[in-house]
Formats: sequence, structure tokens, C-alpha cells
Amino acid sequence: MPQDTENENSRLLKRLAKYLPRGCIREGDHVPVSGSGSFYTDAQGKEYLDFSSGIFTNSFGHGCARLNQAGFKQAERLANIHGRHCAAELTFYRRLFSHLPAEDYKAIPYNDGGYTIDRGLSDVINHFGKRRVGIAAYRNGFHGKTQAGKLLINETRKAALYDNFQIDFPNCYRCPWKKKKTACDMECAEAACSKLREKEARALIFEPVQGAGILVPPPDYWKAIERFCREQGIVLFADEVLTGGGRTGEYLACTRFGIVPDLIALTKGLANGKPLSVLLEREYLTGNQYAVRPLERASTFAAHPEALAVAGELLLMLEEGEILPRVRRYGKLLAEGLAELPGRFLQVGDVRSLGLMAAVEFVRDKESKEPDPLFSMRVFDQCRKSGLETIGGGHILRLAPPLNIEEDDLLRGLAILAECIAEVQAGGMKSE
Ligand SMILES: Cc1ncc(COP(=O)(O)O)c(C=O)c1O
Repeated sequence: MPQDTENENSRLLKRLAKYLPRGCIREGDHVPVSGSGSFYTDAQGKEYLDFSSGIFTNSFGHGCARLNQAGFKQAERLANIHGRHCAAELTFYRRLFSHLPAEDYKAIPYNDGGYTIDRGLSDVINHFGKRRVGIAAYRNGFHGKTQAGKLLINETRKAALYDNFQIDFPNCYRCPWKKKKTACDMECAEAACSKLREKEARALIFEPVQGAGILVPPPDYWKAIERFCREQGIVLFADEVLTGGGRTGEYLACTRFGIVPDLIALTKGLANGKPLSVLLEREYLTGNQYAVRPLERASTFAAHPEALAVAGELLLMLEEGEILPRVRRYGKLLAEGLAELPGRFLQVGDVRSLGLMAAVEFVRDKESKEPDPLFSMRVFDQCRKSGLETIGGGHILRLAPPLNIEEDDLLRGLAILAECIAEVQAGGMKSE
């Protein structure tokens, strides 16, 4: 690869910078221009193995002919409609509902995660007669960037319409009770329940696997929380924006953990990168006296026919390709590969995964476990230079390969990652 600082990537970005707010463009960034399967190519012709999947969206990778065809065919028939329904929506729901943990869900379509969470919160508030009730969320969680979504995880500001407060997400690597990963009495669940009781929570929103750090709770954690919430009449709102669509090896992570939430938000894994989301609510929530008129739930691009057609086809492909068992199988491979890293590298504090979502946590040393964001950023950059696209953020590097990735490519990605950590640890940064 030529060492050209004025290459096509930087030329394009330089021109773009004129139109974008400061900080949008990162020095040395590249511009993806085309892709096929688990790979994409930048403007300079360099190829990347894509372990980011368009931030967890492209379950079947880039340029998937069958999904594209489904979208084109629908687009030829009908453009966007507003507040109306189409046949592609029916096909999608028929296939989607076979993956839900109960039969009495109702679907409310949108086109992104934030809107979906916002609608769900409104419906929870309506359910409690518009009274100001306590709604709990997990610390360090993420539920989108609407004002309501941001306030869920805000420790210092009060939400206007509900009492927002936070509880701690289970973190086995940093267990406050110093218990071993597989041998504990789930003190974390007990602590969560007592905070919910103390604050008189009426609803709890949660990511089954917390996305920012790919924190995977102990296997029975969610069952314990669900049991408590049922006893106390607390509404359970699962934010499966990141985990839904097969990423964990079940269509829903909640199914993997054996629980049945009252609301479920889905987006990223629905339509191979096309904007579509759906809020699923148990019927008792959609049918109460404060329930809004259907058009009040509508939004400009909600239930977009093209995205719905792709989503319906994707569900068929999941089934035909036996993708979920494959995610579980390859998820094991990924976990095994990652498990070697803490033993090999001082700065790898922990590795975590469920199915094909994974994280490597970088620390300054294993004793202090002090987060090392600089090391993590260097590994991220080194991976890019070596042709592996990952998802960087703070001291955590996340991996989300396409659900249909080939075994060789999965192993190749793992090998590149290990090489890059070794390079950074040795203090050298390999050039392209
Ligand atoms: C768990 C979770 N919830 C909600 C959202 C917000 O989704 P969107 O960016 O589509 O609004 C995200 C986005 O990353 C997410 O990861």
C-alpha cells in the first residue's frame, strides 16, 4: 500500500471538512467506498476485514445480493408511505413474531433506536396513568440520544416526566464483592433489587448485555431480576437495539437468558443496515385508557416499505442458512480465541463475548485494573493499519463480525488483533 499522505481518502475528507462541524473528521481516517461480504474497501483501494458490521447492523455483511434484491423490488413497487401499512410489513411481522417469547406483543415500527425507546417510555408513563413514577436504568448503559434516553442514564439531572435513577450493571471483572466469574451468589442481583425497592421503581430499562463494554451478566441474573420485578409489579423494558436480531446466537438475548420482557426495542440487526426499528409491547401496555391514537405513533420514515422488505427477507435467510446455530458455534470460536489474550498480554485485563459480540478491555496492569484508553486507541489504530476494522471507545475495543462470517475470516481477524496488541505492547506501530 503506498505511503501517500495525500491519498484519495484524505483528499475526500479534506473536501468534506468544509461542510462538517469541527471534530467530525479524525486525522488519518479512511472513506469506505464498496464492500463484499465481511470485507470493505476504502477510497485508496485498501481492503478491511469488517469486525464492526456498520455498528452491529450488517448481519449479512456488505453487498448482500439477495437482501439488496428484496429492497430494490420493493422500491420499484412503492416508495415511502406515511402512517399506512403494506404487505412487506405483514411478512416481516409474521416471521419476526415466531422469535418472540410471548404471543401477546404488539408492534410499533420506527426507523431508529432512540425514537423507539422514547415511545416505550411514554407508553410506560401512560400505563401508570401519567403519574410521575420511578424508572430505573443501568449505570453506563446507553439508550440513544433523545433527551429522554439521555436522562435515563444521567446521574445529576432530573427527568421532567419520571423519576430517573440508576443501578449498577453486573460486572464480573470488577465485581465489588470480589467473587469469581462462575462462582458467586449474585450479590449484584440482590443489590439491584434492593435499590429498586428502596426507590419504588415502577419500570426498569436494561440492555441484556450492556453494549458499551459487552458486559455479560451471570447466566441466572436476568431471571432473578425478572422474578423480583414480577413480584413488585415493575415493568421490564428490554433495550435489544444492540443484542437483537441474532447477534447473541438467539434472535433475542432475552430468550437466551430465559426472560419475557413487557417491552422490547429492536433496531440494529433488523434490516442489514437499512433504517428500521420496532418497539414490541405486551398488549396490556398498548391498550390502556391513555394509549395514544395510532397516528400519534407515526413518524416520517416509520415502517419504510424498502427496509421492511429487506427485514422480512433477512429473517428468512437467518432460518434457511441456520445462522443462529452458526452464531453460537462461531461465538464459541471467538470466545476461545479471545480467552488466550489476557494470558499473553499485560494490558489485556478482560475479554468478554456472547455469540458474535465481543469486547477486549485494556488496563494499565492486571493488579490495578486501571483503564488504559490510550493503549486501546493504539490497538484500534494498529488494527486499521493492518486491515481489521473494529469498534473503539475508551479503554474497550469491541468486535462485531457479520453473523454469516466465514470461519477462516473469523480466525484471521483474531490473529490480526493479537498481532496488533503485540505490536502496540512492543511499542512499535507497524506502517501500512
Ligand atoms: C442499546 C442501544 N439503545 C439505543 C440506541 C440508540 O439507537 P439509535 O442510534 O438508532 O437512535 C443504541 C445505539 O447505539 C444502542 O446501542
